[in-house]
Formats: sequence, structure tokens, C-alpha cells
Amino acid sequence: MAKSKLRWQQLFDKVQQCDMEKGQFSWFSNGSLNISDNCIDRHVESNPDQTALIWEKDEPGTEERVSYKELLDMTCRVANVLKGHGISKGDRVAIYMPNSPLAVASMLACMRIGAVHSVVFAGFSAEALATRIQDASCVAVITTDQAVRGGKIIELKKMVDSAVEQCPSVRNVFVASRTGADVPYQSKDVSLDKLMEQADTSCPAEQMESEDPSFMLYTSGSTGKPKGLLHSTAGYLLYVALTHQAVFNCSPGDVYACVADIGWITGHSYVVYGPLSNGVTSVLFESIPTYPDPGRYWEMVERLKVNQFYTAPTAIRLLIKAGDSWPQKYNLSSLRTLGCVGEPLNHEAWEWYNKFVGQSRCDIVDTWWQTETGGICITPRPSESGAEILPGMPMRPFFGIEPALLDSQQRELIGNDVTGSLCIKKPWPGMARSIYGDHERFLDTYLRPFPGYYFSGDGAHRHSNGYYQITGRTDDVINVSGHRLGTAEVEDAMDEHESVAETAVIGTPHEVKGEGIYAFIVLKDESTEDENKVKMELKEMVAVNIAKFAVPDHILIVPGLPKTRSGKIMRRILRKIAGGELSALGDVSTLADPSVVEVIVKLHVVAR
Ligand code: PRX
Repeated sequence: MAKSKLRWQQLFDKVQQCDMEKGQFSWFSNGSLNISDNCIDRHVESNPDQTALIWEKDEPGTEERVSYKELLDMTCRVANVLKGHGISKGDRVAIYMPNSPLAVASMLACMRIGAVHSVVFAGFSAEALATRIQDASCVAVITTDQAVRGGKIIELKKMVDSAVEQCPSVRNVFVASRTGADVPYQSKDVSLDKLMEQADTSCPAEQMESEDPSFMLYTSGSTGKPKGLLHSTAGYLLYVALTHQAVFNCSPGDVYACVADIGWITGHSYVVYGPLSNGVTSVLFESIPTYPDPGRYWEMVERLKVNQFYTAPTAIRLLIKAGDSWPQKYNLSSLRTLGCVGEPLNHEAWEWYNKFVGQSRCDIVDTWWQTETGGICITPRPSESGAEILPGMPMRPFFGIEPALLDSQQRELIGNDVTGSLCIKKPWPGMARSIYGDHERFLDTYLRPFPGYYFSGDGAHRHSNGYYQITGRTDDVINVSGHRLGTAEVEDAMDEHESVAETAVIGTPHEVKGEGIYAFIVLKDESTEDENKVKMELKEMVAVNIAKFAVPDHILIVPGLPKTRSGKIMRRILRKIAGGELSALGDVSTLADPSVVEVIVKLHVVAR
């Protein structure tokens, strides 16, 4: 597959040399290739005018099409601008931009010159952006003057200004125009548009070794600091190309729409690299599912004649609430495959997606994967046509993926009807290779918990028919509207408040978001601050330090937290209280002070 699906500058001589226990992975050794050459140049040679991207801008009906030839031109110009500013192979470049052809060209331009991009979701705060820039010592940031989402203006450049103040490694900020607003320039700022006008439209693609890092992407884990996962070049590209083609049954000529943001792994693998390497037309969605109304996706499907549509369960649940009539207003006959990712697609949402959007004739693919896996690992397709697809689970492993369920004694569970920690037994080309600057943490998080296996952090059940169902995270990671967050990250942000002694954050079931955030706060004894004021300040602190989506839905101020005698917070009990399972709190006798539970329950009931 690597030989036939990818274009090599130099062919590899060995398929794989991997050691799961040692955390050493090498796929396609001694081969070299360039991702931007694979995603653009090859298609320009055979079909230059084919549409690569449809930029579905915030206002419906204002879409712009970019051909593969135009994308090459744009990419080479950006690449030459970056090179002209001294950026070269191995340098890290932060990209903080909304979905746009220029954002894609910026990613591909980094690939072209071998710079490692670190796309930071444009919904993250200035503080969060700064932490990520500092961790990777990025030498440059690419951004836009403003962003537009759901008719609202977001002051992107202002965020970058305050982030870059704290980042001495940044030499230049390249500012592109999205709205044309007159934003003030700082000393490091340069106009990307102006520089691109003068730049050459050709730029040779750097020769990259198969295992050279291609990009890094931050994700949350159970400890406070987000991890910059590093992905490979050849293995990553092959894996996303294969999965994209097979899972979505996609071929050139198709109009494929994954409505994710490029700031997440779904945007990397299934808006940019998978679809472009397969030469299809990829839709770049800039808006939100309810703008200008909850028919936005379906109106877009009709207008652009979308064949494959890929979204997140949280968006489907939001649209179900808006009513069945929205998808019924539009002609959805172009659709063939409907995908979902990010959290479990519950039965009700699956049935609605199937009936009202898929008109009971499309394949529904509930795809399980992670930032770390690079691409889809468990999914109903591909499988022989007509093979059953059941709601509520991703079902079957993709080619080359060998899932395993392990128990707490690190024993692999054999047979069906078993539940355990979801691991993958054999290396696959798309897996992340390391955490930037901290390979030990990579080993500790993913490879040491179950020696010889990759550990996902999720639990799963293998049904009697052998199909896999995900049961959720087994660690302190929560999933809010498909956005992954560490509870410790949110706690760290709130612990900074001068009146706060202690915090405990947990995820609690939420009708639309999948999980909501519930924060239990203990104030310092000497605190005399008004509780409502503290709550407002805490919400603001989370928005400023992380992002708006991380702001807790509920904050409960309590006199103490339930702790064991050794001082460990019993989150199990807090989870039950937050979830309203008040009669099933379980044994509290092992707590240092069991009476605190009763008090918390009372406060919770009053607050509700
Ligand atoms: O808990 C799983 C959940 O999302 C986590 C990965 O999050 P992230 O790295 O942000 O990547 C999301 C997009 C690939 C997983 O550990 N998850 C993802 N897909 C599913 C899922 N949970 C259940 N069903 C899925 N299909």
C-alpha cells in the first residue's frame, strides 16, 4: 500500500522495525517523501483544475473554490515567505487561524520546507496559546486579523499579541487578512498577504525521511500540562490516506465534508491530509451548525452536493433539539456516507442521523480514534457491502489494528462479552511517535501501563458478536462537546484564585455536550468574598487560561471534599453527586470525614 498510495522521492527498504515495549517505531525506513508533494503536486500533474478545497465561509452561499493548481501556488508562496524569514527544516511554527484555504496552505507550506507545524485551535485563549508556543519554542506564528464564526467577530490577532509578549522564541508573526480590519501591528508582525504577493510560486519540496516529524498537536491528558504529540511523515500520511478512502468510500470527484476545525486532529487527518492526499474535494467549514439557522449543514449539503459528511455527536444532538424538519427541507440525495467522531454516538442520535439525514440509505460510520492514533482505528467500514452496521458502537477494527482489552492485572481478556482497558496490540503506521521534548512521558502514558501494548486511556466492551463498544475514559480526561480536557487543567486554572483553597473538577453527563463540567470549590477559611463573585471570577479565569469551552457549567462551593484517610479525593463520590445519583453513593466509611458528603449533597440539592 505504501508503494502504491504514496509518491516517494526515495523508496523505503524496510516496512517496519518497531518495538512496542521500548517505544521505538520505524516505518518505511530509508525512504523519503514530502507530504505537500503527495497532497498537491501529484494531483496538479494529472488534474490541475480539479477543486481541492471548497471554503464554506461563515455566510451561506459565499463559498470559494480553490483548485489543486491554486493550492500549489498559494502553498509555495507561503513556503517561500517562511524560508525568506529564516525558517527551515525542524523549526516549529504555530498556526492560530480559523478554517480557510490559507490556513491549509500554511500547514502544507510547513510540510513543504520540513518545518513542524503546531496548529492551536483558534478557540483557545491567549494564555493557552502562549503555553503551547513556549513548550515547543516556536519560531513563528501564522494568524489572521480576525475570525468570523456564526456572524460574530473574534479578535484573533489581539490574542496573538498578548501571547507573543510572553514568547521570546517567536521571531515573526505572519498576519493574514480575513476581515480586512485595521488591526495594530506589533514589532514582530509582518503582513503575510503582502509578502505572498511578492513571493515566487514555486518552491522545491524538501526531502523528508519517513520518520521525520511532520507536525505536533497538543492534547489534554490526566495531568495539568497538555502534551504535544509528534506525528511521523510517511506512516502518518499512509494511514490517513488509507483510512479516509476506505472508511468514507471516497474517490476523486467526490465532494467530501468534514466539518471539524483544523485545530483538532480530525481537521488535520480528515479535512486536510487524508482527503488531499486522495485527490478529493474537501470542504472547509468556517461556520457553526446553527448559523444562520439549524438547517445550515443540510442546506450546505444540498448546495455543494456533498457525498460524505463527517461531524461530531454533540452537533447531532444539538440539531435533534432543533427539530426533525430542518434536514427534511433540503435535498440530501447526494449523501452516501455519514461519519461521526469524538465521543460515543448514542442510539437516539444514531437513529436520527440515519433516518433524517441519511434517509435510511447511507452508511453510518461511528469512528473511534484519538489525537495519538493519527487516524481512525475502529469503525464499521470498510467491510463487505451489506455487512451489518449497528448503532451505538464503532464495531470493527480497521486493517492492521489489533485491539485488545486488558484487566487491572494487565492480563489480556480472551473471548467475548468482556470489558477492559482498550489497548492496541501491534504498532500501526499512523500512531504518534512521541511527546515533544518528553519521550519518557510518552512511554509512561501510553506504553508502560500495559507493557507490550499501546494504551488508549479508554475502556471498551467486546460484545458477544465480537464488536467493540467504547465505554468512556478510564482516566481524569473529560470530553466536552468533543473537546478533550484534563480535569487537572481546569483545577489548575481555578487554584490560582486567591480565595480558593482547593478544587475538584469532574465530568457529568450533559444532554448536548456529552459531558458538562462540575467544579467543587473549597474556599480558604479566611475568605470573606461573596460566593457569587468568586464563582464569576473562577469562570473568567478558566476562559482566560484555557478556553471558553472549558468553563464549568456548575460551580458548588463546599466546606470540604470527600477524602480518604491518606488525603486522596474520592472523585467517584463527587461524580455520583453531580450526576444526581444521590442514593447510590456507595461506601463512604473509608473517608477521613464521612459527614462532609452529607453537607455536599445538601448544598447540591439546594443549588439545583
Ligand atoms: O474517549 C475517546 C473519545 O475521544 C477521545 C480522543 O479525543 P481526541 O484525541 O481529542 O480525538 C478526538 C477525535 C479523534 C478518545 O479517547 N472518542 C473519540 N471517538 C469516539 C470516542 N468515544 C466513543 N466513540 C467514538 N467514536
